[in-house]
Amino acid sequence: MEDYALPFWIYLGVLSVLVGGALKKVLASHLGAAPPLVAWLGVTVLVERLWAFCLPAALLLLLLGIAAVLYAAARTGPQPATLLPAHGKAVLITGCDSGFGNAMAKHLDAIGFEVFATVLNLSGDGARELQRTCSARLTLLQVDITQPQQVQQALLDTEAKLGLKGLWGLVNNAGVCVNFGDVELSLMSNFRGCMDVNFFGTLSVTKSFLPLLRQAKGRIITISSPAGDQPFPCLAAYGASKAALNLLINTLRHELEPWGVQVCTILPSSFKTGQASDHAYWERQHKQLLQSLPPALLEDYGEDYLTETKDLFQSHARQANPDLSPVTEAVVRALLAPRPKVRYLAGPGVGLMYFIHGYCPFSVSSRFLQKLFLKKKLKPRALRGRPGFELDLSLHNNNNNNNNEGVEQELK
Ligand SMILES: *[C@@H]1O[C@H](CO)[C@@H](O)[C@H](O)[C@H]1NC(C)=O
Repeated sequence: MEDYALPFWIYLGVLSVLVGGALKKVLASHLGAAPPLVAWLGVTVLVERLWAFCLPAALLLLLLGIAAVLYAAARTGPQPATLLPAHGKAVLITGCDSGFGNAMAKHLDAIGFEVFATVLNLSGDGARELQRTCSARLTLLQVDITQPQQVQQALLDTEAKLGLKGLWGLVNNAGVCVNFGDVELSLMSNFRGCMDVNFFGTLSVTKSFLPLLRQAKGRIITISSPAGDQPFPCLAAYGASKAALNLLINTLRHELEPWGVQVCTILPSSFKTGQASDHAYWERQHKQLLQSLPPALLEDYGEDYLTETKDLFQSHARQANPDLSPVTEAVVRALLAPRPKVRYLAGPGVGLMYFIHGYCPFSVSSRFLQKLFLKKKLKPRALRGRPGFELDLSLHNNNNNNNNEGVEQELK
Protein backbone atom coordinates (compact mmCIF):
# COMPACT_ATOMS: atom_id res chain seq x y z
CA MET A 1 0.00 0.00 0.00
CA GLU A 2 2.99 2.36 0.52
CA ASP A 3 3.39 3.26 -3.14
CA TYR A 4 -0.21 4.53 -3.27
CA ALA A 5 0.46 8.13 -2.22
CA LEU A 6 -2.13 10.86 -1.62
CA PRO A 7 -2.04 12.34 -5.18
CA PHE A 8 -2.88 8.90 -6.51
CA TRP A 9 -6.04 8.71 -4.41
CA ILE A 10 -7.02 12.26 -5.32
CA TYR A 11 -6.67 11.60 -8.99
CA LEU A 12 -8.44 8.27 -8.72
CA GLY A 13 -11.31 10.10 -7.00
CA VAL A 14 -11.47 12.81 -9.67
CA LEU A 15 -11.19 10.23 -12.42
CA SER A 16 -13.96 8.16 -10.86
CA VAL A 17 -16.32 11.14 -10.78
CA LEU A 18 -15.52 12.12 -14.38
CA VAL A 19 -15.77 8.63 -15.80
CA GLY A 20 -18.92 7.94 -13.78
CA GLY A 21 -20.48 11.18 -14.96
CA ALA A 22 -19.63 10.52 -18.60
CA LEU A 23 -20.89 6.94 -18.40
CA LYS A 24 -24.10 8.07 -16.76
CA LYS A 25 -24.67 10.72 -19.41
CA VAL A 26 -24.04 8.37 -22.31
CA LEU A 27 -26.20 5.58 -20.93
CA ALA A 28 -28.94 7.81 -19.55
CA SER A 29 -29.49 9.55 -22.86
CA HIS A 30 -29.63 6.33 -24.85
CA LEU A 31 -31.07 3.77 -22.51
CA GLY A 32 -32.86 5.81 -19.89
CA ALA A 33 -31.04 3.84 -17.19
CA ALA A 34 -27.75 4.42 -15.41
CA PRO A 35 -25.28 1.59 -14.79
CA PRO A 36 -24.85 0.14 -11.33
CA LEU A 37 -21.98 1.21 -9.12
CA VAL A 38 -19.94 -1.88 -9.99
CA ALA A 39 -19.79 -0.99 -13.68
CA TRP A 40 -18.81 2.56 -12.84
CA LEU A 41 -15.93 1.46 -10.60
CA GLY A 42 -14.88 -1.24 -13.04
CA VAL A 43 -14.56 1.19 -15.93
CA THR A 44 -12.78 3.72 -13.72
CA VAL A 45 -10.14 1.20 -12.66
CA LEU A 46 -9.74 0.01 -16.25
CA VAL A 47 -9.24 3.54 -17.57
CA GLU A 48 -6.88 4.31 -14.70
CA ARG A 49 -4.74 1.20 -15.41
CA LEU A 50 -4.57 1.94 -19.13
CA TRP A 51 -3.54 5.53 -18.61
CA ALA A 52 -1.10 4.67 -15.84
CA PHE A 53 1.10 2.96 -18.43
CA CYS A 54 1.70 6.22 -20.27
CA LEU A 55 1.32 9.09 -17.78
CA PRO A 56 2.45 9.89 -14.26
CA ALA A 57 -0.39 10.58 -11.81
CA ALA A 58 0.35 14.29 -11.31
CA LEU A 59 0.32 15.03 -15.06
CA LEU A 60 -2.93 13.09 -15.51
CA LEU A 61 -4.53 15.05 -12.67
CA LEU A 62 -3.49 18.30 -14.36
CA LEU A 63 -4.96 17.18 -17.71
CA LEU A 64 -8.20 16.13 -16.05
CA GLY A 65 -8.39 19.50 -14.31
CA ILE A 66 -8.00 21.32 -17.64
CA ALA A 67 -10.61 19.04 -19.23
CA ALA A 68 -13.06 19.77 -16.42
CA VAL A 69 -12.56 23.54 -16.73
CA LEU A 70 -13.01 23.37 -20.53
CA TYR A 71 -16.12 21.23 -20.12
CA ALA A 72 -17.63 23.65 -17.59
CA ALA A 73 -16.85 26.59 -19.89
CA ALA A 74 -18.38 24.81 -22.89
CA ARG A 75 -21.48 23.98 -20.90
CA THR A 76 -22.18 27.54 -19.79
CA GLY A 77 -20.82 29.15 -22.96
CA PRO A 78 -23.05 28.47 -25.95
CA GLN A 79 -26.20 27.68 -23.99
CA PRO A 80 -28.31 30.84 -24.16
CA ALA A 81 -29.85 31.70 -20.81
CA THR A 82 -32.88 33.26 -22.47
CA LEU A 83 -35.97 31.32 -23.40
CA LEU A 84 -37.82 31.56 -26.71
CA PRO A 85 -40.81 33.92 -26.71
CA ALA A 86 -44.13 32.33 -25.74
CA HIS A 87 -46.13 34.87 -27.72
CA GLY A 88 -47.89 33.42 -30.76
CA LYS A 89 -47.17 29.80 -29.78
CA ALA A 90 -50.08 27.39 -29.32
CA VAL A 91 -50.03 24.62 -26.72
CA LEU A 92 -52.53 21.85 -26.04
CA ILE A 93 -52.61 20.49 -22.47
CA THR A 94 -54.61 17.40 -21.53
CA GLY A 95 -56.24 16.80 -18.14
CA CYS A 96 -56.78 20.40 -17.00
CA ASP A 97 -59.65 19.72 -14.57
CA SER A 98 -57.28 19.84 -11.61
CA GLY A 99 -53.69 19.33 -10.50
CA PHE A 100 -50.72 19.90 -12.80
CA GLY A 101 -52.89 20.40 -15.90
CA ASN A 102 -54.97 23.12 -14.29
CA ALA A 103 -51.90 24.88 -12.89
CA MET A 104 -50.07 24.66 -16.21
CA ALA A 105 -53.01 25.98 -18.21
CA LYS A 106 -53.15 29.07 -16.00
CA HIS A 107 -49.41 29.60 -16.00
CA LEU A 108 -48.87 29.09 -19.74
CA ASP A 109 -51.81 31.39 -20.47
CA ALA A 110 -50.37 34.04 -18.14
CA ILE A 111 -46.99 34.05 -19.90
CA GLY A 112 -48.55 34.50 -23.36
CA PHE A 113 -49.19 31.07 -24.87
CA GLU A 114 -52.36 30.38 -26.83
CA VAL A 115 -53.63 27.53 -24.63
CA PHE A 116 -55.97 24.71 -25.62
CA ALA A 117 -56.93 23.05 -22.35
CA THR A 118 -58.75 19.73 -22.44
CA VAL A 119 -60.98 18.85 -19.49
CA LEU A 120 -63.18 15.87 -18.65
CA ASN A 121 -65.99 18.07 -17.44
CA LEU A 122 -66.69 21.42 -19.09
CA SER A 123 -69.03 22.45 -16.27
CA GLY A 124 -66.71 21.23 -13.47
CA ASP A 125 -64.99 23.52 -10.98
CA GLY A 126 -61.59 23.33 -12.69
CA ALA A 127 -62.93 24.26 -16.13
CA ARG A 128 -65.01 27.12 -14.74
CA GLU A 129 -62.03 28.44 -12.85
CA LEU A 130 -59.90 28.44 -16.00
CA GLN A 131 -62.64 30.26 -17.89
CA ARG A 132 -62.89 32.85 -15.14
CA THR A 133 -59.18 33.49 -14.51
CA CYS A 134 -57.54 33.06 -17.91
CA SER A 135 -57.31 35.34 -20.95
CA ALA A 136 -59.55 35.11 -24.02
CA ARG A 137 -56.71 33.22 -25.77
CA LEU A 138 -57.53 30.08 -23.74
CA THR A 139 -59.85 27.53 -25.35
CA LEU A 140 -61.50 24.80 -23.30
CA LEU A 141 -62.14 21.46 -24.99
CA GLN A 142 -64.09 18.55 -23.55
CA VAL A 143 -61.98 15.42 -24.04
CA ASP A 144 -61.87 12.02 -22.40
CA ILE A 145 -58.59 10.83 -23.89
CA THR A 146 -59.77 7.21 -23.88
CA GLN A 147 -62.54 8.14 -26.36
CA PRO A 148 -61.08 8.37 -29.91
CA GLN A 149 -64.01 10.36 -31.30
CA GLN A 150 -63.59 13.02 -28.59
CA VAL A 151 -59.86 13.25 -29.36
CA GLN A 152 -60.73 13.57 -33.04
CA GLN A 153 -63.23 16.34 -32.33
CA ALA A 154 -60.63 18.22 -30.28
CA LEU A 155 -58.22 17.92 -33.20
CA LEU A 156 -60.78 19.38 -35.61
CA ASP A 157 -61.56 22.27 -33.22
CA THR A 158 -57.86 22.99 -32.68
CA GLU A 159 -57.07 22.83 -36.41
CA ALA A 160 -59.92 25.20 -37.19
CA LYS A 161 -58.50 27.78 -34.79
CA LEU A 162 -54.83 27.38 -35.67
CA GLY A 163 -55.03 27.29 -39.44
CA LEU A 164 -51.64 26.74 -41.00
CA LYS A 165 -49.42 27.70 -38.11
CA GLY A 166 -49.58 24.27 -36.46
CA LEU A 167 -49.21 23.36 -32.82
CA TRP A 168 -46.02 24.33 -30.97
CA GLY A 169 -46.54 22.17 -27.91
CA LEU A 170 -48.47 19.13 -26.77
CA VAL A 171 -48.38 18.64 -23.00
CA ASN A 172 -49.45 15.07 -22.24
CA ASN A 173 -50.58 15.52 -18.68
CA ALA A 174 -53.82 13.54 -18.28
CA GLY A 175 -53.25 10.45 -16.17
CA VAL A 176 -54.90 8.36 -13.49
CA CYS A 177 -54.03 6.10 -10.62
CA VAL A 178 -57.13 4.03 -9.90
CA ASN A 179 -56.01 2.49 -6.61
CA PHE A 180 -52.94 1.44 -4.66
CA GLY A 181 -51.95 -1.92 -3.33
CA ASP A 182 -49.94 -5.10 -3.71
CA VAL A 183 -50.28 -6.65 -7.17
CA GLU A 184 -52.17 -9.62 -5.75
CA LEU A 185 -54.62 -7.25 -4.08
CA SER A 186 -55.12 -4.97 -7.09
CA LEU A 187 -58.07 -5.51 -9.36
CA MET A 188 -57.48 -6.18 -13.03
CA SER A 189 -59.67 -3.14 -13.67
CA ASN A 190 -56.99 -1.08 -11.92
CA PHE A 191 -54.29 -2.31 -14.31
CA ARG A 192 -56.56 -1.81 -17.33
CA GLY A 193 -57.75 1.59 -16.12
CA CYS A 194 -54.19 2.87 -15.75
CA MET A 195 -53.17 1.47 -19.13
CA ASP A 196 -56.26 2.88 -20.83
CA VAL A 197 -55.64 6.44 -19.76
CA ASN A 198 -51.91 6.73 -19.11
CA PHE A 199 -50.72 4.69 -22.07
CA PHE A 200 -53.43 4.24 -24.72
CA GLY A 201 -55.01 7.64 -24.08
CA THR A 202 -51.70 9.48 -24.31
CA LEU A 203 -50.76 7.47 -27.40
CA SER A 204 -54.05 8.33 -29.08
CA VAL A 205 -53.72 12.07 -28.38
CA THR A 206 -50.08 12.10 -29.47
CA LYS A 207 -50.75 10.29 -32.75
CA SER A 208 -53.71 12.53 -33.51
CA PHE A 209 -51.88 15.81 -32.96
CA LEU A 210 -48.56 14.80 -34.56
CA PRO A 211 -49.40 16.28 -38.00
CA LEU A 212 -49.98 19.68 -36.33
CA LEU A 213 -46.80 19.30 -34.27
CA ARG A 214 -44.70 18.38 -37.31
CA GLN A 215 -46.12 21.38 -39.13
CA ALA A 216 -44.83 23.73 -36.41
CA LYS A 217 -41.67 21.70 -35.68
CA GLY A 218 -43.05 21.71 -32.17
CA ARG A 219 -42.50 19.80 -28.98
CA ILE A 220 -44.10 16.95 -27.06
CA ILE A 221 -43.84 17.23 -23.29
CA THR A 222 -45.05 14.23 -21.31
CA ILE A 223 -45.66 14.18 -17.59
CA SER A 224 -44.52 10.74 -16.52
CA SER A 225 -43.46 9.45 -13.11
CA PRO A 226 -40.41 8.01 -11.37
CA ALA A 227 -42.79 5.09 -10.68
CA GLY A 228 -42.40 4.22 -14.37
CA ASP A 229 -38.64 3.73 -13.92
CA GLN A 230 -38.45 2.35 -10.39
CA PRO A 231 -40.47 -0.35 -8.61
CA PHE A 232 -42.35 1.64 -5.99
CA PRO A 233 -44.26 -0.68 -3.67
CA CYS A 234 -48.05 -0.78 -4.17
CA LEU A 235 -47.83 1.23 -7.40
CA ALA A 236 -47.38 -1.57 -9.91
CA ALA A 237 -50.48 -0.79 -11.98
CA TYR A 238 -49.70 2.90 -12.25
CA GLY A 239 -45.95 2.29 -12.62
CA ALA A 240 -46.34 -0.31 -15.36
CA SER A 241 -48.52 2.06 -17.41
CA LYS A 242 -45.95 4.85 -16.98
CA ALA A 243 -43.12 2.46 -17.89
CA ALA A 244 -44.92 1.61 -21.12
CA LEU A 245 -45.46 5.32 -21.70
CA ASN A 246 -41.77 6.08 -21.12
CA LEU A 247 -40.71 3.54 -23.72
CA LEU A 248 -43.19 4.90 -26.22
CA ILE A 249 -42.01 8.45 -25.65
CA ASN A 250 -38.33 7.50 -25.85
CA THR A 251 -38.94 5.70 -29.13
CA LEU A 252 -40.86 8.68 -30.52
CA ARG A 253 -37.90 10.89 -29.64
CA HIS A 254 -35.72 9.06 -32.18
CA GLU A 255 -38.41 8.87 -34.82
CA LEU A 256 -39.35 12.54 -34.63
CA GLU A 257 -35.82 13.89 -34.67
CA PRO A 258 -35.73 14.18 -38.48
CA TRP A 259 -39.01 16.11 -38.36
CA GLY A 260 -37.57 18.66 -35.94
CA VAL A 261 -40.10 17.70 -33.27
CA GLN A 262 -38.45 17.57 -29.83
CA VAL A 263 -39.65 15.19 -27.15
CA CYS A 264 -39.19 15.71 -23.39
CA THR A 265 -40.32 13.89 -20.28
CA ILE A 266 -41.09 15.53 -16.94
CA LEU A 267 -40.54 13.33 -13.88
CA PRO A 268 -42.16 14.92 -10.82
CA SER A 269 -41.69 13.88 -7.22
CA SER A 270 -44.86 13.60 -5.16
CA PHE A 271 -47.20 16.60 -5.30
CA LYS A 272 -50.69 17.22 -4.05
CA THR A 273 -52.83 16.90 -7.17
CA GLY A 274 -56.27 15.89 -8.29
CA GLN A 275 -57.94 13.09 -6.41
CA ALA A 276 -54.94 12.48 -4.19
CA SER A 277 -56.38 14.75 -1.52
CA ASP A 278 -60.02 13.68 -2.00
CA HIS A 279 -60.70 11.67 1.16
CA ALA A 280 -64.16 10.47 0.11
CA TYR A 281 -62.80 9.18 -3.22
CA TRP A 282 -60.24 6.93 -1.53
CA GLU A 283 -62.75 5.65 1.02
CA ARG A 284 -65.07 4.69 -1.84
CA GLN A 285 -62.26 2.95 -3.73
CA HIS A 286 -61.25 1.08 -0.57
CA LYS A 287 -64.79 -0.13 0.14
CA GLN A 288 -65.15 -1.28 -3.43
CA LEU A 289 -61.85 -3.15 -3.27
CA LEU A 290 -62.83 -4.97 -0.05
CA GLN A 291 -66.07 -6.03 -1.67
CA SER A 292 -64.41 -7.24 -4.87
CA LEU A 293 -61.59 -9.36 -3.43
CA PRO A 294 -62.09 -13.12 -3.06
CA PRO A 295 -62.73 -13.98 0.63
CA ALA A 296 -59.75 -16.37 0.75
CA LEU A 297 -57.40 -13.60 -0.32
CA LEU A 298 -58.88 -11.20 2.22
CA GLU A 299 -58.38 -13.92 4.82
CA ASP A 300 -54.69 -14.41 3.93
CA TYR A 301 -53.81 -10.72 3.92
CA GLY A 302 -56.27 -9.43 6.51
CA GLU A 303 -58.52 -6.42 6.16
CA ASP A 304 -56.28 -4.41 8.49
CA TYR A 305 -53.36 -4.94 6.06
CA LEU A 306 -55.36 -3.31 3.25
CA THR A 307 -56.60 -0.55 5.51
CA GLU A 308 -53.06 0.24 6.59
CA THR A 309 -51.98 0.58 2.95
CA LYS A 310 -54.87 2.93 2.25
CA ASP A 311 -54.11 5.01 5.35
CA LEU A 312 -50.43 5.24 4.48
CA PHE A 313 -51.23 6.48 0.98
CA GLN A 314 -53.69 8.98 2.35
CA SER A 315 -51.22 10.41 4.80
CA HIS A 316 -48.62 10.43 2.01
CA ALA A 317 -51.05 12.45 -0.12
CA ARG A 318 -51.80 14.84 2.73
CA GLN A 319 -48.10 15.52 3.26
CA ALA A 320 -47.36 15.93 -0.44
CA ASN A 321 -46.13 19.24 -1.75
CA PRO A 322 -49.03 21.60 -2.64
CA ASP A 323 -46.72 23.98 -4.54
CA LEU A 324 -46.79 22.70 -8.13
CA SER A 325 -44.41 25.35 -9.46
CA PRO A 326 -41.38 23.01 -9.91
CA VAL A 327 -43.44 21.09 -12.46
CA THR A 328 -44.95 24.11 -14.25
CA GLU A 329 -41.48 25.67 -14.44
CA ALA A 330 -39.98 22.49 -15.87
CA VAL A 331 -42.73 22.45 -18.52
CA VAL A 332 -41.99 26.07 -19.43
CA ARG A 333 -38.30 25.25 -19.84
CA ALA A 334 -39.12 22.17 -21.90
CA LEU A 335 -41.39 24.27 -24.14
CA LEU A 336 -39.18 27.32 -24.50
CA ALA A 337 -35.53 26.39 -23.98
CA PRO A 338 -33.67 26.71 -27.29
CA ARG A 339 -32.30 23.22 -26.62
CA PRO A 340 -34.64 21.36 -24.27
CA LYS A 341 -33.38 18.50 -22.15
CA VAL A 342 -34.52 14.91 -22.70
CA ARG A 343 -35.92 14.74 -19.20
CA TYR A 344 -36.58 17.13 -16.37
CA LEU A 345 -36.62 15.95 -12.77
CA ALA A 346 -39.08 18.20 -10.94
CA GLY A 347 -39.37 18.52 -7.20
CA PRO A 348 -37.27 17.79 -4.12
CA GLY A 349 -35.86 14.30 -3.68
CA VAL A 350 -36.44 13.00 -7.18
CA GLY A 351 -32.81 13.53 -8.26
CA LEU A 352 -31.59 11.57 -5.27
CA MET A 353 -34.14 8.81 -5.99
CA TYR A 354 -32.73 8.41 -9.51
CA PHE A 355 -29.17 8.52 -8.22
CA ILE A 356 -29.82 5.73 -5.74
CA HIS A 357 -31.75 3.73 -8.33
CA GLY A 358 -28.97 4.16 -10.88
CA TYR A 359 -25.83 3.75 -8.80
CA CYS A 360 -26.58 1.70 -5.71
CA PRO A 361 -26.72 -2.09 -5.59
CA PHE A 362 -30.17 -3.53 -6.02
CA SER A 363 -30.45 -4.51 -2.34
CA VAL A 364 -29.89 -0.89 -1.28
CA SER A 365 -32.15 0.73 -3.87
CA SER A 366 -35.09 -1.60 -3.26
CA ARG A 367 -34.75 -1.18 0.50
CA PHE A 368 -34.66 2.57 0.00
CA LEU A 369 -37.90 2.49 -2.00
CA GLN A 370 -39.65 0.17 0.44
CA LYS A 371 -38.67 2.00 3.58
CA LEU A 372 -38.77 5.56 2.39
CA PHE A 373 -41.95 5.34 0.44
CA LEU A 374 -44.27 3.11 2.45
CA LYS A 375 -43.68 2.58 6.11
CA LYS A 376 -45.83 -0.51 6.46
CA LYS A 377 -45.82 -2.08 9.91
CA LEU A 378 -48.28 -4.92 9.35
CA LYS A 379 -47.46 -8.17 7.65
CA PRO A 380 -50.14 -10.11 5.78
CA ARG A 381 -52.27 -11.86 8.40
CA ALA A 382 -51.25 -15.39 7.39
CA LEU A 383 -47.58 -14.53 8.06
CA ARG A 384 -48.05 -13.00 11.48
CA GLY A 385 -46.64 -14.66 14.56
CA ARG A 386 -44.35 -16.90 12.57
CA PRO A 387 -40.78 -16.90 13.82
CA GLY A 388 -38.20 -15.79 11.30
CA PHE A 389 -40.52 -13.32 9.63
CA GLU A 390 -40.08 -10.47 12.12
CA LEU A 391 -38.91 -7.26 10.55
CA ASP A 392 -36.91 -4.73 12.49
CA LEU A 393 -39.25 -1.94 11.50
CA SER A 394 -38.69 0.50 14.35
CA LEU A 395 -35.01 0.81 13.55
CA HIS A 396 -35.56 1.37 9.84
CA ASN A 397 -38.30 3.85 10.41
CA ASN A 398 -36.08 6.01 12.54
CA ASN A 399 -33.27 5.96 10.04
CA ASN A 400 -35.70 6.69 7.40
CA ASN A 401 -37.18 9.81 8.86
CA ASN A 402 -33.73 11.25 9.34
CA ASN A 403 -32.67 10.41 5.81
CA ASN A 404 -35.81 11.89 4.48
CA GLU A 405 -35.24 15.26 6.06
CA GLY A 406 -31.63 15.25 4.90
CA VAL A 407 -32.76 14.61 1.35
CA GLU A 408 -35.20 17.47 1.27
CA GLN A 409 -32.73 19.95 2.64
CA GLU A 410 -29.95 18.88 0.38
CA LEU A 411 -32.01 19.31 -2.74
CA LYS A 412 -33.67 22.63 -2.02
C1 LIG B 1 -69.50 18.12 -14.02
O1 LIG B 1 -69.40 19.07 -12.99
C2 LIG B 1 -70.66 19.48 -12.48
C3 LIG B 1 -70.43 20.63 -11.51
O2 LIG B 1 -69.47 20.28 -10.54
C4 LIG B 1 -71.38 18.31 -11.86
O3 LIG B 1 -72.64 18.69 -11.37
C5 LIG B 1 -71.51 17.20 -12.90
O4 LIG B 1 -72.05 16.05 -12.31
C6 LIG B 1 -70.17 16.87 -13.50
N1 LIG B 1 -70.37 15.95 -14.61
C7 LIG B 1 -69.70 14.80 -14.69
C8 LIG B 1 -69.98 13.97 -15.89
O5 LIG B 1 -68.91 14.44 -13.85
